[in-house]
Amino acid sequence: MNWGIELILIFLSISEFIFKKFIMEDSIFRKDGTAQGVAKQRMIESLAQPDKRVIFDPIAEHFVLGASIIKIMGHKLSVWITKKFTPGFHEHLMARTRFIDDLVEKTVAEEAEQYVILGAGYDSRGHRLKLNSTIKIFEVDQNEVQNIKRSKLPANLTETEHITYVSIDFNTQSLSEQLIAAGFDKTKATIFTLEGVSQYITKDAIKSTLQEIGELRINSDTTFFMSYVDKRLKDAPKDCFGEGYRNAEKKAKTVQYLSAKVGEPWISLYSHEDIKELLDEFGFTLTENKCLKDLNSVYFEPLGRKLPENEIFNLEHFAVAVKKQS
Ligand SMILES: C[S@@+](CC[C@H](N)C(=O)[O-])C[C@H]1O[C@@H](n2cnc3c(N)ncnc32)[C@H](O)[C@@H]1O
Repeated sequence: MNWGIELILIFLSISEFIFKKFIMEDSIFRKDGTAQGVAKQRMIESLAQPDKRVIFDPIAEHFVLGASIIKIMGHKLSVWITKKFTPGFHEHLMARTRFIDDLVEKTVAEEAEQYVILGAGYDSRGHRLKLNSTIKIFEVDQNEVQNIKRSKLPANLTETEHITYVSIDFNTQSLSEQLIAAGFDKTKATIFTLEGVSQYITKDAIKSTLQEIGELRINSDTTFFMSYVDKRLKDAPKDCFGEGYRNAEKKAKTVQYLSAKVGEPWISLYSHEDIKELLDEFGFTLTENKCLKDLNSVYFEPLGRKLPENEIFNLEHFAVAVKKQS
């Protein structure tokens, strides 16, 4: 038996143990299960050689259970294992991260003076992107998740002055009240991102959040990013995957099952039309709507990592909208 196979077997038994012991028993991932899941993929990507990676997040490893095992396995083996379970899942999340990184850097370079990260989880853009030093960042999430995050951040990053933590439950609390109390300035151009969150909160909560964002401005421009899960996942799951994707229906069910199992079920799914309508209702204009299929050749092809059609995972979309000062 060679080392590669031995390592895979060790990893699979540890994963199985963790899965049975903690996930199936519902005992460890109370509120940060999905935030950890995304941070884990960012950590894996950051282990790739600099000329092979799509994003770099050296902070992610601080939030990930079993980070030292993943480090030993390295990028290639970790991506390979993820692919065995769900082809395209890792690349989908990395495309999402990179797309938002680029959007935030561009918007801040052009005009935004404030950046509000909605459902920030273990997002580290406030630390890792090269943003204008005068930018004010508001990280918004559930109190419990923020407490865990702050306790795990490297010591030299915990008291960063340009980042303010704002706790919220989108389903029950007003975003405006929380942001204004934290020092948000309505006169400044602002970018808001809602990454990997809309599926977990009610449609009413998204509506009121968007309404409030639309009103949190006085003669200033607002840019809004939102990722959303495609409604077809429920009634036509195959349409959410590339041609020839193996067991598409089963994978669609597994992804939803695992999320529910860590205590964060997907309760709100949308169509392209739903999103356009929602944005229109609050005065936003949709400017972009992408998914992995569109970004495969932009981010992965130049690195020699372009995915074949039968590994494309399109079940989440990346929408950008603007509301200009009137
Ligand atoms: C999948 S994680 C995404 C985290 C981060 N945006 C990223 O992409 O790395 C979902 C995040 O939404 C937050 N969230 C879920 N429901 C929420 C609610 N009702 N109010 C506030 N935050 C919520 C979770 O705490 C978690 O951090």
